[in-house]
Amino acid sequence: MSSSIDSIEHRGLLEGDSEESRHDEKSLIRSFTRSYTNSRTQKVILLILSVSIVFNVLLTTLYLRTPSQPSQSEALTPYAHLKHVREEPYVIVTPYSSDNETLQDQLWYNINVDSAVVALSDDWADQHNLRKAQRFPWDQSKGIYILHGFHNLHCLKIVYISMSEYRRGLPQTRSWHHISHCLDALRRQIICDADDTPRATDRRVEVVSGLHQHRQCRSWEQLEEFAKRHTACYKRPENPDETSWSKVDRFKHCPPDSGYVVTDNYVSTEELLEGLPEESLQDHM
Ligand SMILES: *[C@@H]1O[C@H](CO)[C@@H](O)[C@H](O)[C@H]1NC(C)=O
Repeated sequence: MSSSIDSIEHRGLLEGDSEESRHDEKSLIRSFTRSYTNSRTQKVILLILSVSIVFNVLLTTLYLRTPSQPSQSEALTPYAHLKHVREEPYVIVTPYSSDNETLQDQLWYNINVDSAVVALSDDWADQHNLRKAQRFPWDQSKGIYILHGFHNLHCLKIVYISMSEYRRGLPQTRSWHHISHCLDALRRQIICDADDTPRATDRRVEVVSGLHQHRQCRSWEQLEEFAKRHTACYKRPENPDETSWSKVDRFKHCPPDSGYVVTDNYVSTEELLEGLPEESLQDHM
């Protein structure tokens, strides 16, 4: 007898497979099959199962044939619970790249990201696996957070400002450090998103692709609503006379219905309010 591992394993598998036990199995299967097919109930169940299988195949086929439709079971974003709610085409120009430079400047300079800064309760943060943040002055049970999408938009804005200053031969109002940080943040976002949409090319002079194709988008307005519901009453200094604002002063712009009581003698419980988005001194335009 071979003593190889192979044959030992096979012996193990065949163990108990004697004529006797094989006979027992056969009669068991026969009696099972008989009682199975004789039962009307079982036949109905068989029918229902068959219909179910046919439906499953049909549904799967339908699902696989419509890959560009937003899925009904699309997961909501984890914090503001946004989903894809609108469709937009890929386009060559929008007013933000208009030939009318006055209009272009107006649009870019008017991007306001103050609502990026929100106050979220520690309980809420806990439920969403967020770490605790520095204290919000008017409610010590809340931390200050910056919504990432607004941060990216802010970054794009200062890159635009820097380039338009360069173009016009004006002195740079934003530091290179800040601008390269912003470019890097946008680079990271692109890498992180890893957008796999194939945009069809055409034989045409303009460098553009994806014409007549559409993408599904979330609603920026809904994100803004979320930000407003959690307002941190934040406003950046925009005019030269506002540059003397302290950091706390930036949080004193509560809407009337916020319920926060703003005081002038607030004393911080910690090293106060670092890491806030800078920007937005428009001393010219
Ligand atoms: C350019 O845009 C500005 C600002 O919207 C507008 O007032 C002006 O009429 C536009 N100029 C032209 C030539 O369309």
